[in-house]
Amino acid sequence: MALGYVLPPCCMAKLTVNDIDVRNKRVFVRVDYNVPIEEKDGKMVITDVTRIKETLPTLDLLINKGAKIILAAHLGRPKGKREPSMSLRPVAEKLADMIVRHVAFADDCIGEKVENTANALKPGDILLLENVRFYAEEEANDPVFAEKLARVADVYVNDAFGAAHRAHASTEGIARVVAKRGGQSAAGLLMERELKFLGEELESPAGPFVVILGGAKVSDKINVIDRLLEKAETILIGGAMAYTFKLAQGFKVGKSLVEPDKVEVARAALEKAKQRRIEFLLPTDNIVVTPVKTDKLDKKGRPVMNLENPRTNAEPNIADSEEGVDIGPSTAKRYAEVISKAKTILWNGPMGIFEDPRFAEGTFTVARAVANATQKNGATSIIGGGDSVKALNKAGLGDKVTFMSTGGGASLEFLEGKELPGVAALSNR
Ligand code: 3PG
Ligand code: MG
Repeated sequence: MALGYVLPPCCMAKLTVNDIDVRNKRVFVRVDYNVPIEEKDGKMVITDVTRIKETLPTLDLLINKGAKIILAAHLGRPKGKREPSMSLRPVAEKLADMIVRHVAFADDCIGEKVENTANALKPGDILLLENVRFYAEEEANDPVFAEKLARVADVYVNDAFGAAHRAHASTEGIARVVAKRGGQSAAGLLMERELKFLGEELESPAGPFVVILGGAKVSDKINVIDRLLEKAETILIGGAMAYTFKLAQGFKVGKSLVEPDKVEVARAALEKAKQRRIEFLLPTDNIVVTPVKTDKLDKKGRPVMNLENPRTNAEPNIADSEEGVDIGPSTAKRYAEVISKAKTILWNGPMGIFEDPRFAEGTFTVARAVANATQKNGATSIIGGGDSVKALNKAGLGDKVTFMSTGGGASLEFLEGKELPGVAALSNR
C-alpha cells in the first residue's frame, strides 16, 4: 500500500449525487456560499463568485433529475444572531443570474413557513434558505436543530467541501438524522472533485512531485509539511513561514514575521527532510523593506506600518531594521526551474505580500511556472485553496492549472490526513 496520501477510509466509499434517486424528492443541499461580500453604495456586493459557480454542476444534475432543491449555507460568523450584513439574500439573486433560473429565498432556515415553502416546490425548483449560523445551534451541532433542518430533507447532499471540516448541524448532524430515518446522504459533484484531487490524485502522484508552501505561519502548515515529507521529492518554502525556518537554521531575519515558538518544530521538519533525502528549499534571497510606524491603526488596533525602501537582499541574513516581504529574484528563478520539471504540483500559500504589487513578483513567478508546467509539460497542478487561488486569479492564470480547491481550512485539514466530519457522516456506498 502506498504511504502517505491514503484517503481516509470514509471517503472512498461514499455515495455521490450520481448514485441516488432524487426524482420528485426534496433534496437538502448544503453548499459553501461563504463568499467575500462588501457593502457598496448601500448594497451588498459579492466580490468573488467562485464558490457559487462551482456548485452549478451539482445543481444542474439535480434539476435534470427532477429534484426539488433546498439549499442551505452559512455566510460569515454571525455567532447565533440575525446579522443583516450576513444575509444570504444577495447570494440568491447572484445564483439566479448565474443559473438563469428563478431562485426563491426564505428568510429563515427552519420553521413552519420554510416547511410550507419547501413542500410547495416542484421538480427543478430551487429554494435558498437564510444563513444557518443565525442560530447558535448550528455551530453547536445541536441534534434538535439538526432535526428541524431535516424536516425538509427527503435526501441530504453535501457539496460544501469548504465547510466539511466543521461538525455543524447542517454539515454533520443532519446527515445523522436522515440516516436514522433510513434516508440517504450523498456527496455533491464539487465535494467529489475536491476529494479526488486533494485525496486520490495525491495518493500516488507521478514524480517529480513538487510541493510549494507559503503563507504567514508555520503553525498552519506544519502538519501538512509532515505528511508531505512522506510523498514529495521537493518542497519549496516561501512566504513569512520561510523566516521561521531561516531562524531554525541560525540565520538572522530582522523584523520579518516569525513564530519564535515554532522554531523547534521547523528544525524537526528540516531534520526529517534531510533523513528522507527530500530537497527542502528555502529562499536564498529576499525582497526586504524598512517598516515605519504610522499614526493610523488597523482593524485590530495595531499601528499601520509603511513598508519603505524595497530592495533585494542577497545575503543569507536580514538586517535588524529590515523585514522580508517576498522571495527574491534568484530564489524565484530557482523555484520556477524546479517547478518546470515537476509532473505533479501542489501549491498552498503565497510567496510574499502579493496584494501589494511591489511584493507580488515572487508569487506571480511561481504562478506562471505552475501554469506553464501544466500547459506545456502536462503536469497535474493542484492548488490548495485560499490565497494561492486569489494570486493565480490575480495573475489571470486561474484556468491554466488542473484544479483549484474551494476550501481554505478544509483543504489544509484534508491534506493533513484528517477525517472531515462532513464527509464521514455521508452514507457509504
Ligand atoms: C471558509 O470560508 O473557510 C468556510 O466556509 C468555513 O468557514 P468558517 O471558517 O467560518 O467555519
Ligand atoms: Mg475559515
